[in-house]
Amino acid sequence: MNTIQIAEKSFKILLENDNIEKRTRLIAIQINVDYEKRCPVFIGVLNGSFLFMADLLKEIDIPCEVGFIRVASYQNTESTGVIKEILGLSDDIRGRDIILVEDIVDTGFTLEHILKEIYIKEPASVKVCSLLLKPAALKAPIDELEYVGFEVANEFVVGYGLDYNGLGRNLKDIYKATD
Ligand code: IMP
Repeated sequence: MNTIQIAEKSFKILLENDNIEKRTRLIAIQINVDYEKRCPVFIGVLNGSFLFMADLLKEIDIPCEVGFIRVASYQNTESTGVIKEILGLSDDIRGRDIILVEDIVDTGFTLEHILKEIYIKEPASVKVCSLLLKPAALKAPIDELEYVGFEVANEFVVGYGLDYNGLGRNLKDIYKATD
């Protein structure tokens, strides 16, 4: 099925799971090389990153640690810009190499806020790995954005962790809104 309905909204296929998996493997290979002998800490941003994080980490073969943080800042199809509290950020990241894993970078405001909080904990280094990037929507440039799966147009997307009003995170593929 190339077109699906979630609540009142129609979506059509944008990225198939095979394609996502292939790209994820390539990113993992790059990270395995870049972080050889460094034992990075992967921090997934919930909820959207949960599938990407799992698939990415299955391809990481260097020693590493894994954690998750949570930020609630998004409603409906437009970024509100309202950033809430960051939950789950450990103090143990001091002196560590951090790889922050995101589902999508849209305006970049969420990431900007998370990065500010992370730097307070004095890590050795911070890089960001995001499955998707909407370059046309980016308002806060993120220097740490090192690994990007796919650049997408400034359209609302859903599936593979990304939701539309709480729905669609379980979809294997990624879809874009048709209206
Ligand atoms: P930003 O702060 O505008 O960069 O938005 C970041 C967060 O908003 C992402 O981590 C997603 O959770 C959510 N988001 C942004 N764009 C989309 C989208 O197209 N579909 C679903 N969620 C989105």
